Amino acid sequence: MVLEGDVTTDFDVISYTRSRKHHGNNVSQNRRCILVCQHDSCCRNGAEAVLAAFQAADTEAVVMGSPCAGQCNVGPTVRVMPDETWYCRVRPEDVEQIITEHVDPEAGQPVKRLLHPRFHPQFW
Ligand code: FES
Repeated sequence: MVLEGDVTTDFDVISYTRSRKHHGNNVSQNRRCILVCQHDSCCRNGAEAVLAAFQAADTEAVVMGSPCAGQCNVGPTVRVMPDETWYCRVRPEDVEQIITEHVDPEAGQPVKRLLHPRFHPQFW
């Protein structure tokens, strides 16, 4: 089930990005935005529970459901703004690691094992 009030639009994402640019460094890096896809395919793979886990997490980041992010075959898809980090196949049990290692203000290290290879190719 998609909670319509919690689902953002592309316009919301654009507004968030423009707001950051307008306010410059006054909107600190620690105010990240976490977008959790809440469309069909991701929801069939547990995206609602992932969104709930992010919403329950102790974080200053803005957490929102989003429409389809166009990565349906590897959902649940999570996108962290403004750094444009894309995660795939995220599970509720991954949320704490994403928060503590990446999203928290003093962290900033994306969780490699969950990075979407299309956006973050890794070569060993
Ligand atoms: S349904 Fe989630 S990326 Fe398309």
